[in-house]
Amino acid sequence: MKILESQDVKLVPLSAEHEAEFVRLANIPEINCRVNKPLLYTNTHFAEQLEKLQKSKSSFVWMIEQNAKIVGVINNASGRDPRVFQGGYWIDPACWGKGAASTALVLVRDFLFRECGAERVQAVVEPDNLTSIRVLEKCGYQCEGLLKKFYPSVNRGLIDVIMYAVVK
Ligand SMILES: CC(C)(COP(=O)(O)OP(=O)(O)OC[C@H]1O[C@@H](n2cnc3c(N)ncnc32)[C@H](O)[C@@H]1OP(=O)(O)O)[C@@H](O)C(=O)NCCC(=O)NCCS
Repeated sequence: MKILESQDVKLVPLSAEHEAEFVRLANIPEINCRVNKPLLYTNTHFAEQLEKLQKSKSSFVWMIEQNAKIVGVINNASGRDPRVFQGGYWIDPACWGKGAASTALVLVRDFLFRECGAERVQAVVEPDNLTSIRVLEKCGYQCEGLLKKFYPSVNRGLIDVIMYAVVK
Protein backbone atom coordinates (compact mmCIF):
# COMPACT_ATOMS: atom_id res chain seq x y z
CA MET A 1 0.00 0.00 0.00
CA LYS A 2 1.31 3.45 -0.76
CA ILE A 3 1.12 6.91 0.73
CA LEU A 4 -1.25 9.22 -1.18
CA GLU A 5 -0.83 12.99 -0.85
CA SER A 6 -2.37 16.32 -1.76
CA GLN A 7 -1.42 19.77 -0.55
CA ASP A 8 -2.69 19.46 3.04
CA VAL A 9 -3.86 15.86 3.27
CA LYS A 10 -1.69 12.76 3.48
CA LEU A 11 -3.04 9.19 3.53
CA VAL A 12 -0.75 6.86 5.45
CA PRO A 13 -1.31 3.08 5.18
CA LEU A 14 -2.63 1.63 8.44
CA SER A 15 -0.03 -0.05 10.62
CA ALA A 16 0.36 -1.24 14.22
CA GLU A 17 1.60 2.19 15.29
CA HIS A 18 -1.88 3.62 14.60
CA GLU A 19 -3.62 1.35 17.11
CA ALA A 20 -4.38 3.88 19.86
CA GLU A 21 -5.63 6.58 17.49
CA PHE A 22 -7.69 4.16 15.37
CA VAL A 23 -9.38 2.68 18.47
CA ARG A 24 -10.01 6.17 19.89
CA LEU A 25 -11.66 7.35 16.67
CA ALA A 26 -13.80 4.20 16.29
CA ASN A 27 -15.25 4.76 19.79
CA ILE A 28 -16.25 8.40 19.32
CA PRO A 29 -20.08 8.25 19.44
CA GLU A 30 -20.64 10.44 16.34
CA ILE A 31 -18.36 8.11 14.36
CA ASN A 32 -19.32 4.78 15.94
CA CYS A 33 -23.00 5.30 15.12
CA ARG A 34 -22.22 5.76 11.41
CA VAL A 35 -19.55 3.20 10.63
CA ASN A 36 -19.94 -0.54 10.82
CA LYS A 37 -18.03 -1.17 14.03
CA PRO A 38 -18.96 -2.88 17.32
CA LEU A 39 -20.37 -0.45 19.92
CA LEU A 40 -17.19 -0.96 21.93
CA TYR A 41 -14.30 -1.24 19.49
CA THR A 42 -11.35 -2.81 21.28
CA ASN A 43 -7.63 -3.33 20.72
CA THR A 44 -8.44 -6.97 19.89
CA HIS A 45 -10.77 -5.82 17.11
CA PHE A 46 -7.93 -3.66 15.80
CA ALA A 47 -5.42 -6.54 15.86
CA GLU A 48 -7.87 -8.79 13.98
CA GLN A 49 -8.59 -6.09 11.41
CA LEU A 50 -4.90 -5.37 10.82
CA GLU A 51 -4.09 -9.06 10.40
CA LYS A 52 -6.89 -9.50 7.85
CA LEU A 53 -5.77 -6.37 6.01
CA GLN A 54 -2.16 -7.53 5.82
CA LYS A 55 -3.27 -10.80 4.19
CA SER A 56 -5.45 -9.07 1.59
CA LYS A 57 -4.29 -7.71 -1.76
CA SER A 58 -7.54 -5.89 -2.48
CA SER A 59 -8.28 -4.09 0.81
CA PHE A 60 -6.87 -0.71 1.74
CA VAL A 61 -7.02 1.31 4.95
CA TRP A 62 -5.27 4.64 5.42
CA MET A 63 -5.05 7.04 8.34
CA ILE A 64 -5.92 10.54 7.15
CA GLU A 65 -3.47 13.26 8.18
CA GLN A 66 -4.30 16.92 7.64
CA ASN A 67 -1.49 19.39 8.14
CA ALA A 68 0.60 16.59 9.73
CA LYS A 69 -2.06 15.65 12.33
CA ILE A 70 -4.08 12.43 12.26
CA VAL A 71 -7.74 13.38 11.76
CA GLY A 72 -9.47 10.24 10.48
CA VAL A 73 -9.59 7.00 8.53
CA ILE A 74 -10.53 6.01 4.97
CA ASN A 75 -10.85 2.52 3.55
CA ASN A 76 -11.77 0.74 0.37
CA ALA A 77 -11.81 -2.83 -0.88
CA SER A 78 -12.92 -4.89 -3.83
CA GLY A 79 -15.19 -7.85 -3.25
CA ARG A 80 -16.27 -10.60 -5.58
CA ASP A 81 -15.29 -8.62 -8.67
CA PRO A 82 -11.82 -7.00 -8.60
CA ARG A 83 -13.07 -4.06 -10.70
CA VAL A 84 -15.71 -2.98 -8.16
CA PHE A 85 -14.61 -1.20 -4.96
CA GLN A 86 -16.55 -0.02 -1.92
CA GLY A 87 -15.38 1.96 1.06
CA GLY A 88 -15.98 4.36 3.92
CA TYR A 89 -14.40 7.19 5.87
CA TRP A 90 -14.61 8.98 9.18
CA ILE A 91 -13.14 12.14 10.65
CA ASP A 92 -12.65 13.26 14.25
CA PRO A 93 -15.59 15.62 15.01
CA ALA A 94 -13.03 18.18 16.25
CA CYS A 95 -11.82 18.41 12.63
CA TRP A 96 -15.11 18.34 10.69
CA GLY A 97 -15.77 20.88 7.97
CA LYS A 98 -12.18 21.42 6.84
CA GLY A 99 -12.31 19.31 3.69
CA ALA A 100 -10.37 16.31 5.04
CA ALA A 101 -12.94 13.68 4.03
CA SER A 102 -13.52 15.13 0.55
CA THR A 103 -9.83 15.47 -0.19
CA ALA A 104 -9.11 11.94 1.07
CA LEU A 105 -11.97 10.50 -0.97
CA VAL A 106 -10.71 12.10 -4.19
CA LEU A 107 -7.19 10.77 -3.54
CA VAL A 108 -8.51 7.23 -3.00
CA ARG A 109 -10.95 7.36 -5.92
CA ASP A 110 -8.20 8.45 -8.31
CA PHE A 111 -5.75 5.85 -6.93
CA LEU A 112 -8.28 3.03 -7.44
CA PHE A 113 -9.01 4.05 -11.04
CA ARG A 114 -5.37 4.75 -11.89
CA GLU A 115 -3.54 1.90 -10.20
CA CYS A 116 -5.97 -0.80 -9.11
CA GLY A 117 -8.03 -1.54 -12.21
CA ALA A 118 -11.20 -0.12 -10.71
CA GLU A 119 -14.12 0.46 -13.08
CA ARG A 120 -16.66 1.25 -10.39
CA VAL A 121 -16.12 2.79 -6.94
CA GLN A 122 -19.19 2.80 -4.73
CA ALA A 123 -20.30 3.83 -1.27
CA VAL A 124 -23.47 3.32 0.69
CA VAL A 125 -24.78 5.99 3.02
CA GLU A 126 -27.72 6.26 5.38
CA PRO A 127 -30.42 8.61 4.02
CA ASP A 128 -30.14 10.97 7.02
CA ASN A 129 -26.34 11.32 6.79
CA LEU A 130 -26.50 14.59 4.89
CA THR A 131 -22.87 15.51 5.51
CA SER A 132 -21.59 12.28 4.01
CA ILE A 133 -24.01 12.62 1.07
CA ARG A 134 -22.56 16.08 0.45
CA VAL A 135 -19.02 14.65 0.55
CA LEU A 136 -19.91 11.95 -1.99
CA GLU A 137 -21.63 14.40 -4.34
CA LYS A 138 -18.73 16.86 -4.10
CA CYS A 139 -16.42 14.01 -5.13
CA GLY A 140 -18.42 13.13 -8.24
CA TYR A 141 -20.36 10.15 -6.91
CA GLN A 142 -23.85 9.80 -8.40
CA CYS A 143 -26.93 8.73 -6.51
CA GLU A 144 -28.28 5.41 -7.75
CA GLY A 145 -31.18 5.03 -5.36
CA LEU A 146 -32.44 3.80 -2.04
CA LEU A 147 -31.75 0.17 -1.15
CA LYS A 148 -34.10 -1.06 1.57
CA LYS A 149 -32.74 -3.44 4.22
CA PHE A 150 -29.61 -3.77 2.11
CA TYR A 151 -26.70 -3.24 4.48
CA PRO A 152 -25.88 -5.64 7.34
CA SER A 153 -25.05 -3.31 10.21
CA VAL A 154 -23.14 -4.90 13.11
CA ASN A 155 -25.43 -3.29 15.69
CA ARG A 156 -28.74 -2.55 13.94
CA GLY A 157 -29.62 -5.45 11.66
CA LEU A 158 -30.28 -4.78 7.97
CA ILE A 159 -30.47 -1.03 7.37
CA ASP A 160 -31.69 1.14 4.48
CA VAL A 161 -28.92 2.89 2.54
CA ILE A 162 -28.55 5.02 -0.57
CA MET A 163 -26.13 3.64 -3.16
CA TYR A 164 -23.67 6.17 -4.62
CA ALA A 165 -21.08 5.34 -7.28
CA VAL A 166 -18.57 6.80 -9.68
CA VAL A 167 -17.68 4.78 -12.78
CA LYS A 168 -14.75 4.93 -15.17
C1 LIG B 1 -19.04 12.56 6.93
C2 LIG B 1 -17.70 13.07 7.45
C3 LIG B 1 -16.62 12.03 7.16
C4 LIG B 1 -17.36 14.39 6.72
O1 LIG B 1 -16.05 14.79 7.10
P1 LIG B 1 -15.51 16.29 6.84
O2 LIG B 1 -14.03 16.22 6.80
O3 LIG B 1 -16.16 17.21 7.78
O4 LIG B 1 -16.09 16.55 5.37
P2 LIG B 1 -15.69 17.77 4.40
O5 LIG B 1 -15.20 18.92 5.22
O6 LIG B 1 -14.80 17.24 3.34
O7 LIG B 1 -17.09 18.12 3.71
C5 LIG B 1 -18.26 18.28 4.48
C6 LIG B 1 -19.33 18.93 3.60
O8 LIG B 1 -20.63 18.67 4.17
C7 LIG B 1 -21.27 19.91 4.39
N1 LIG B 1 -22.19 19.73 5.52
C8 LIG B 1 -21.91 19.74 6.83
N2 LIG B 1 -23.03 19.49 7.53
C9 LIG B 1 -24.03 19.33 6.63
C10 LIG B 1 -25.43 19.06 6.73
N3 LIG B 1 -26.03 18.90 7.90
N4 LIG B 1 -26.15 18.95 5.57
C11 LIG B 1 -25.56 19.08 4.37
N5 LIG B 1 -24.23 19.34 4.21
C12 LIG B 1 -23.49 19.46 5.34
C13 LIG B 1 -20.16 20.89 4.61
O9 LIG B 1 -20.60 22.22 4.43
C14 LIG B 1 -19.18 20.44 3.53
O10 LIG B 1 -19.61 20.81 2.24
P3 LIG B 1 -19.01 22.13 1.49
O11 LIG B 1 -17.53 21.91 1.34
O12 LIG B 1 -19.75 22.18 0.22
O13 LIG B 1 -19.30 23.30 2.41
C15 LIG B 1 -17.76 13.34 8.99
O14 LIG B 1 -18.87 14.13 9.26
C16 LIG B 1 -17.83 12.05 9.81
O15 LIG B 1 -16.82 11.47 10.16
N6 LIG B 1 -19.08 11.64 10.14
C17 LIG B 1 -19.26 10.40 10.95
C18 LIG B 1 -18.84 9.15 10.16
C19 LIG B 1 -19.58 9.05 8.84
O16 LIG B 1 -20.75 9.45 8.72
N7 LIG B 1 -18.90 8.48 7.84
C20 LIG B 1 -19.49 8.27 6.53
C21 LIG B 1 -20.33 7.04 6.54
S1 LIG B 1 -21.15 6.85 4.97
